Amino acid sequence: MAKIKIGVLVSGRGSNLQAIIDNIENGSLSAELAVVISDQANAYALERARKHNIPAVPISSKGYKGKREEYDALLVKELRTRNVDLVCLAGFMRIITLVMIKAFPNRILNIHPALLPAFPGLHVQKKALEHGVKFSGCTVHFVDEGMDTGPIIIQAAVPVLDNDTEDSLSERILKQEHKIYSRAIQLIAEERVAVKGRRVFVSGLENKKAEGMINP
Ligand code: GRF
Repeated sequence: MAKIKIGVLVSGRGSNLQAIIDNIENGSLSAELAVVISDQANAYALERARKHNIPAVPISSKGYKGKREEYDALLVKELRTRNVDLVCLAGFMRIITLVMIKAFPNRILNIHPALLPAFPGLHVQKKALEHGVKFSGCTVHFVDEGMDTGPIIIQAAVPVLDNDTEDSLSERILKQEHKIYSRAIQLIAEERVAVKGRRVFVSGLENKKAEGMINP
């Protein structure tokens, strides 16, 4: 079977991208990385891609203030040129528009470092600590027009400890991010994911869920 072709959109350090690369290389993720695109030309994530001979394409967002649709049209063009089936936002610091969403319906994923719908947006761990939650975690979800609002595919929970700082909590959550993002991509590659309204169903997990196994 042909491997699903993914395009990863980044803005910064790219540790989630690295986990995807590593999981493809160790055989636990059956996908092909067709392109990595960054809105920041100096993003370290682009370096990571180049080290693995993955096409790394900076598409600067400079000059596109207030022209989000025009910028997204550039993304669509590049992703189509590379025959991308699935778009993965991994620390991509822009809100995408309908131009992208219509071009890739239910084919854009994002990872967020909280148990959505709690704490969308930025400064997520600060918000979790200030609120005093006992568990936080991460979420892989489909992207819709809102900010961190689309249907949820996988979540992983981590405890919040009394002595946690933003950094220590981020680090604990990031370890889980690196696992669940590849897992979500693999489930989609295996065509086991169905979206019905806000709910996402994963085939082959029904009994495991009943036994209390939350994360596929
Ligand atoms: C991650 O915490 C991710 O959940 C959020 O942005 C951060 C990106 O980190 N969307 P990295 O660039 O993948 O290291």
